[in-house]
Amino acid sequence: MATTACAHPNIALIKYWGKSARPGNYPAAPSLSITLDALLTTTEVRNCEEADRIFFDDVEVPDAKVLACLADLRDVYAIPYLEVHTSNNFPTAAGLASSASGFAALIAAINAHCDLGLDPHAQSDRARRASGSAARSVFGGFVALDGPNWVARQVLDAEAWPLKTVIAVTTSEKKSVASSEGMQLSEATSPYYSAWVTSTATDFKSALAMVEARDFDALAALAEFSCLKMHGLMLSTNPGLLYWNPATIACLHAIRELRQQGIPVFFTVDAGPQVKAVCLPEAENDVQSTLQSIAGVERVLTTGLGQGARIVVP
Ligand code: PMV
Repeated sequence: MATTACAHPNIALIKYWGKSARPGNYPAAPSLSITLDALLTTTEVRNCEEADRIFFDDVEVPDAKVLACLADLRDVYAIPYLEVHTSNNFPTAAGLASSASGFAALIAAINAHCDLGLDPHAQSDRARRASGSAARSVFGGFVALDGPNWVARQVLDAEAWPLKTVIAVTTSEKKSVASSEGMQLSEATSPYYSAWVTSTATDFKSALAMVEARDFDALAALAEFSCLKMHGLMLSTNPGLLYWNPATIACLHAIRELRQQGIPVFFTVDAGPQVKAVCLPEAENDVQSTLQSIAGVERVLTTGLGQGARIVVP
């Protein structure tokens, strides 16, 4: 008997970069994200005999983070050895938040397979322990992750404000420094780290109000500010974390130019070189054709807002 779940990646409009000292992988500051419909992770779990076995696209990979997630669950729940099969319909570990959808789908699958009885908030807590951003992929639409409990919650559902996201893939190679490692390095070495943590809490509160008011222009300015501030923090880490390539920067300029022409779009970039352009539905075609024409953009993916993690009924 196998159980299959799926989940979508999310992208943060108010970014998460930095952990609190408390065990349990708690973020140092709140974040706000949108869940993306067209990108999908599908994960199947089934019991197996002697040890956990992890497969990505049918290739066995003893992924340390997945094995640690299973061990962490076993500290609390009686879970048999599991065989886990995961696949993504998009590039893995290249700044498209595959760990977010991956762990949200894994927890949803194990929860159903082993009858753990976890509600979505409890699933979000378990997902966060494996990857901070995964806590948010448990929910669809606009999602907040903040204290005191640091489990995610939905702020608006996917239909309530149906934004589009055009993703410019500038390389399909894996990223050089994993986010957890990068966050620790930023905290240890950047002179800007504490200002980042304090100011992100303020940005988060403002962004919540903007989402509730559907104020696109205000959210555009604040989301770009949060993104560039996070990359400023990354650049001020020692050694500097430089995730961008020339095509990334060309996309940022092009998106700013579109906005100056009155097209409702803004950018955000995570720990990788891909650019996500978030826009109102009427701007989708202009944004797509602009990003497609930029040298170094390998391909463009367009998506609406998606649902949270869920079981796939065979
Ligand atoms: O959840 P992690 O450890 O993969 O970190 C995610 C960090 C960013 O994607 C850069 C920002 C975010 O809030 O998603």
